[in-house]
Amino acid sequence: MKSLERKRVLAHPRFLSPTLARQLRSEFDSAFRDARDSKSRRLVWEPWHIEDQYSLLRTPAARFFEPKHYQALEQTLLDFGKNQLGCHGLSPPWMSLYTDGAYQNLHTDAPHGPWAYVLSLGPDRPIYQGGETVLATERLLSHWQRFTMDRGQELGDFFEKIPTRFNQLLLFDPRIPHGVSRVVGTREPRHGRLVLHGWFVAPRPFIEGGLSRSHSGIEWSGELIEWCLRIVDETLGDYQGICNLKFSIMPSGVVKKADLIFHSLLDPSGAPETATQGPRAFYTRLRKQLAQAPRAPSHRTASTLTLPIELRRE
Ligand SMILES: [Fe+2]
Repeated sequence: MKSLERKRVLAHPRFLSPTLARQLRSEFDSAFRDARDSKSRRLVWEPWHIEDQYSLLRTPAARFFEPKHYQALEQTLLDFGKNQLGCHGLSPPWMSLYTDGAYQNLHTDAPHGPWAYVLSLGPDRPIYQGGETVLATERLLSHWQRFTMDRGQELGDFFEKIPTRFNQLLLFDPRIPHGVSRVVGTREPRHGRLVLHGWFVAPRPFIEGGLSRSHSGIEWSGELIEWCLRIVDETLGDYQGICNLKFSIMPSGVVKKADLIFHSLLDPSGAPETATQGPRAFYTRLRKQLAQAPRAPSHRTASTLTLPIELRRE
């Protein structure tokens, strides 16, 4: 059985094709090459400053890059969101630049989407200090439940710091208090921390293979979702978050396998001992009852159904 631990953060190195990553980077570098050029695309940057909360330069990525390169970037993100997260949409990506003194203080982004991302565009070898993505640790978020007198705790116990690496996509649960540590050491834009960021949105079922082309396949997926939601009701109670399932369907229509790819389900009591209890009960029952899952119409080829289930308190 796969780990039933809740995923807080996932890193995907070499996310874009090397050619596209280099192309986007060189468009940025060329815009800043001649500081006396007053017609360049670099004039689209907004100095976004909210005292003690955010201070950085930002621009909608779509306004900055050549349309064909921007479209390739957007398509790569959309394909990843659909295949890996069951999310069919993307908030308009921001591009942010952090030079000396820029930061984001701790905040949460819960209303925006179930997963946030940060995609680094470099530089390759930063000369600045800071600029890490900072996330509150589980130890901090359940401080009193875990507190013992046997040892003191320090910064590293309370915050996880993740360095930005060129062309790495960092995916994280935006309900976790997070920010960006203050950048120091350069005021030159081409040496600053450059990232694209936003949210994957619109989680929806997604069928691939034979069933995707038939109306009866779509109807069957509705029945399977209902069947699945009954098990969710019985096992997950007040849990909040998103759970990403993948079902394998044989040409005969039998649902052969159900995988829990990963989840961000959180018990609102925050008690460490119940962290995996609900997801374990859910997944165990799902597998045990799989033989009773609604049978799909038969088809010439096998199919898969990606099913994100979002549980949220409005
Ligand atoms: Fe954020």
